[in-house]
Amino acid sequence: MALSDRIVLKYAELPRVFRKPLWRFWHNLILGRDRDHGDVGVTFMNYGFAPLEGEPETVALAPGDEPERFPAQLYHRALRSHDVDGKVVLEVGSGRGGGASYITRYFRPERYVAVDLGPKNIRFCNAYHGSDRLSFVEGDAEDLPFADGSFDTVVNVESSRCYGDIPRFFAEVRRVLRENGVFLLTDMRWQGDLPLLRSRLATAGFAIAEEENITANVVRALELDDRRRRSMIEQRIPGFLTRAFGEFAGVKGSRRYAEFASGRMQYVSMLLRPAG
Ligand SMILES: C[S@@+](CC[C@H](N)C(=O)[O-])C[C@H]1O[C@@H](n2cnc3c(N)ncnc32)[C@H](O)[C@@H]1O
Repeated sequence: MALSDRIVLKYAELPRVFRKPLWRFWHNLILGRDRDHGDVGVTFMNYGFAPLEGEPETVALAPGDEPERFPAQLYHRALRSHDVDGKVVLEVGSGRGGGASYITRYFRPERYVAVDLGPKNIRFCNAYHGSDRLSFVEGDAEDLPFADGSFDTVVNVESSRCYGDIPRFFAEVRRVLRENGVFLLTDMRWQGDLPLLRSRLATAGFAIAEEENITANVVRALELDDRRRRSMIEQRIPGFLTRAFGEFAGVKGSRRYAEFASGRMQYVSMLLRPAG
């Protein structure tokens, strides 16, 4: 396996010092491809969610949002039973901003602030998605640039596994969240690491109010979205990086896809509240 493929697959196990620079590099690479193509290829960077056979579609989307239906559905699922209408929301690890835009447009929070790495990526997100209610700020999950008790809701989708110090991130979420706030965490873990995730959340002062294993839904989304993911890579990514991007995107035949399909990698969605 090429070094670039290994870096993508083992990203979350790389020494901390490499992780943030790698994400900035990755964002800048994607921005460069957008520039070359004169349009925006993707606004989400997650594996998506699809209802299982026989279950109804979860989301009614405007035609312009249809191409990224599955990643948007993951955000819809991440909201769980929580209503963000009128709430002040923080998202950490907002990527290319598609999820922040989707929640702001469809669920009407009073204000939505989204944090991620890299000045160019943040400039792109503000220019492409920003509005009077939605803004993007450069910041680090492990050192959030906000005062204590600033938010009703914190959203985190497919990002926490990448952080160098996950307990510190959870402590930061607890700090910036109001006493009656809600923390919505949706992410993947190796199957054997789920107990550690739960105990770290408890240590940070969170109680799990809802937890759902959505691995099968993620696998189905990857299958249904495979053609779009492959053609995006074929059209936009230079040959020497197509396999690495295939791993990143979880296309069928990739190791990432196989890890989900075998259940070695699990995907969970949680709603947490400050423990009483
Ligand atoms: C797989 S992407 C998911 C992006 C977005 N949540 C989505 O679903 O489209 C993970 C994101 O986490 C961000 N990230 C990684 N480490 C971070 C950190 N320490 N602080 C803030 N964001 C971070 C990356 O830059 C990247 O945008």
